Amino acid sequence: MVNTDLIGPMLCSKKAVEIMEKNGGGKILNTSSIRGWEHGGRSVVYAASKAGINSFTRTFAKMVAPLNIQVNAVAPGFVKTRNYDNMTKEQCDIFIDQTQLKRWVTEDEISDAFLFLTRNDAMTGQVIYVDAGFTLK
Ligand SMILES: NC(=O)c1ccc[n+]([C@@H]2O[C@H](COP(=O)([O-])OP(=O)(O)OC[C@H]3O[C@@H](n4cnc5c(N)ncnc54)[C@H](OP(=O)(O)O)[C@@H]3O)[C@@H](O)[C@H]2O)c1
Repeated sequence: MVNTDLIGPMLCSKKAVEIMEKNGGGKILNTSSIRGWEHGGRSVVYAASKAGINSFTRTFAKMVAPLNIQVNAVAPGFVKTRNYDNMTKEQCDIFIDQTQLKRWVTEDEISDAFLFLTRNDAMTGQVIYVDAGFTLK
């Protein structure tokens, strides 16, 4: 999990910078999670990986800013992908009840945030939470 969610993006970022530097700049987008915020759910390793990606996003953003490379992340809330296929409605309802808006976030709403970050040249080192109000608590 750490390899996929944290080390992988770090290695990809390193490679991307080599290419972006030659092209005069670029944008690196990471995928975080609401579980990387303050503390996670039941998976400590997942929470640590996502908190790590938040830290990496901010730290690497500073490092590559002189190369005109922006580094940001999107932190999704609950998005009903295949990860929830084996859960009962009652289990899913417990998740959704933790959001202020009492709803799932759609895949389109997540991709909208990523697309916004591709267009915005002023943002770097930010983690955007698209979470139906989960982190409001
Ligand atoms: N769904 C949520 O509620 C939610 C909430 C917060 C954050 N996120 C984050 O959003 C991202 C996508 O989640 P998802 O719900 O869309 O999950 P998903 O449907 O299970 O998709 C995960 C994707 O990652 C790929 N993958 C998994 N292990 C890999 C590996 N070792 N090397 C390369 N690719 C690998 C999978 O490839 P294959 O298709 O080939 O298996 C799949 O395309 C994840 O980073 C997750 O932590 C999701």
